Amino acid sequence: MASQNDIPSSQTAIIQHKGGILRITHDLPIHELEPHQILVKTASVALNPCDFKMPLRFPTPGLWDGCDFSGTVVALGSKAVEEGRLRVGDLVFGAVQGSNRLHPTSGAYCEYIRTEPDYTFQIPKGIALKDAPALSGTAIATLGVALFWSLQLPGTFESPAVKSEDVLVYGGSSTVGLLAIQMVKL
Ligand SMILES: NC(=O)c1ccc[n+]([C@@H]2O[C@H](COP(=O)([O-])OP(=O)(O)OC[C@H]3O[C@@H](n4cnc5c(N)ncnc54)[C@H](OP(=O)(O)O)[C@@H]3O)[C@@H](O)[C@H]2O)c1
Repeated sequence: MASQNDIPSSQTAIIQHKGGILRITHDLPIHELEPHQILVKTASVALNPCDFKMPLRFPTPGLWDGCDFSGTVVALGSKAVEEGRLRVGDLVFGAVQGSNRLHPTSGAYCEYIRTEPDYTFQIPKGIALKDAPALSGTAIATLGVALFWSLQLPGTFESPAVKSEDVLVYGGSSTVGLLAIQMVKL
């Protein structure tokens, strides 16, 4: 189990430089956690289309990049401890919003990710740490908004729908499409 003393004072990350060019950059800080946040030591990351689309279309030097990750929880803010959903040592996957002008240091392509329990999940049994980012916390969040908020489809993970509805999943072989098919089965 990691302790606060094992966490270094600086880290390497992939961030935007001039023109939105992404570069491996050393000696970047590990920021203090806000009370509701957790710190994850990165094990593996996925390549999400938005990781190149955002720097390409909205270049902003200084923004940290990357969304989907897996790793080990190494520290928790005071509220995250109280909440009790995650603990130091948990193996997790999840999502942060990389290349985010509102939160410039929000990104998964770094050694220590500051994230929030709401977008971080225990890795299911049978799924390897290195494969877990492909479950895509970003896609889960996107589909939560698209299916259950925008489209107002009935059914939740806890309480599946009793009446079926027809839904067209366009592009069903992509990461988002495959997850959408699983979710609309609810
Ligand atoms: N992943 C997310 O969390 C997320 C969230 C919001 C929005 N989106 C958007 O949703 C879309 C799909 O994302 P994804 O993560 O599901 O991507 P993905 O897993 O990489 O899937 C993309 C699919 O598009 C196909 N494709 C790529 N270029 C093509 C072309 N020129 N002609 C025909 N097919 C092509 C790929 O086929 P091959 O495998 O044969 O190359 C692949 O099946 C993207 O526009 C992305 O920006 C994604």
